[in-house]
Amino acid sequence: MSSYNLLMLPGDGIGPEVINEVERVIEWFNMNSNHKFEIEKDLVGGAAYDEHGQSISDEAMDLAHKSDAVIFGAVGGPKWDNVPFEVRPEAGLLRLRKELDLFANLRPAICYKALAEASSLKKELVEGLDILILRELTGGVYFGEPKEITDLPDGQKRAVDTQVYTTSEIERIARVAFDLAKTRKGKVTSTEKRNVMISGVFWNNVVSEVHKNEYPEMELEHMLADACAMQLVRKPKQFDLIVADNLFGDILSDEAAMLTGSMGMLPSASLGAVNPNTDKRNAMYEPVHGSAPDISGQGIANPIAEIASFAMALRYSFNLTEEAKMIEDSISAALDQGIRTPDIMQDGMKKVGTKAITDAIIAEMNSRA
Ligand code: IPM
Ligand code: MG
Repeated sequence: MSSYNLLMLPGDGIGPEVINEVERVIEWFNMNSNHKFEIEKDLVGGAAYDEHGQSISDEAMDLAHKSDAVIFGAVGGPKWDNVPFEVRPEAGLLRLRKELDLFANLRPAICYKALAEASSLKKELVEGLDILILRELTGGVYFGEPKEITDLPDGQKRAVDTQVYTTSEIERIARVAFDLAKTRKGKVTSTEKRNVMISGVFWNNVVSEVHKNEYPEMELEHMLADACAMQLVRKPKQFDLIVADNLFGDILSDEAAMLTGSMGMLPSASLGAVNPNTDKRNAMYEPVHGSAPDISGQGIANPIAEIASFAMALRYSFNLTEEAKMIEDSISAALDQGIRTPDIMQDGMKKVGTKAITDAIIAEMNSRA
């Protein structure tokens, strides 16, 4: 028997609603398998701000460091629109990513068979789609300094964000890209804006060097980030793995999410480096969608991205590949039954809420146990 500690951070909006559902899936493993998961919970985002005046407390950060994996919900909402920038809900998420050094964010965009017609793109473009967006998560303009608004002598103000990358930051994400591509179709598309940004020239050069020196047998393609955005909707299946910096990765992954039918479908894994002494890595699993304040509290949020994020935790933190696959197959089979949350609703399907779609997924898990 193996046992693991999970820290759950439900956050705001639909975060707690989808976290409730993933807890049911985790409970299923506690009852029906040899893997036991202990769950602790804490606050993040606006919920933490309301309680502590900061978007994540030091105590919660401590729990995150000690846990085997963090399972994250979502943060933010109009209620906190006017709180100071440093303590806005999103700052809690960014602190987790930075302090746990979760530099590699894997965002797989897989179009489930049953949802090929739910995408806003033509069915033949997305049917069978399986691409991975690999986003650098601890550098770039998200964290670069200076990041400030200053006063100018003429009475104006001036705002600056800083896009900054070092050699080693790019090398480590490039290695993750090539290593992951080895387990896929073997093609890496690296994106930047080298035609405008000097940091883009540098990104391109460093990725090319890693390719030449360490992975010459793999296929590497460079694409400008704007062209990549265009190609993603023109012919998405040309891609296997797209590696991008923090900002372009944020944008391209929202775009990729919609290819799969809905933002409510896309899971993600945020991973640190493996510690050679313990063979463990810091990790956080978060759906790509946000807190969706417009639908929160109505019981209609799609829990699939959160549940599929837990499947990624099984795969990347606990090496439970078969169990991860079992959850993914159960999601797919539940969708095959023709039930849909509103975000993926199609003609002729039955509209159900958050709990009912999880019921169906758990029933499918039972039939596979
Ligand atoms: C994401 C989100 C976050 C980001 C926000 C909530 C800070 O959009 O995970 O993609 O920009 O990274
Ligand atoms: Mg985003």
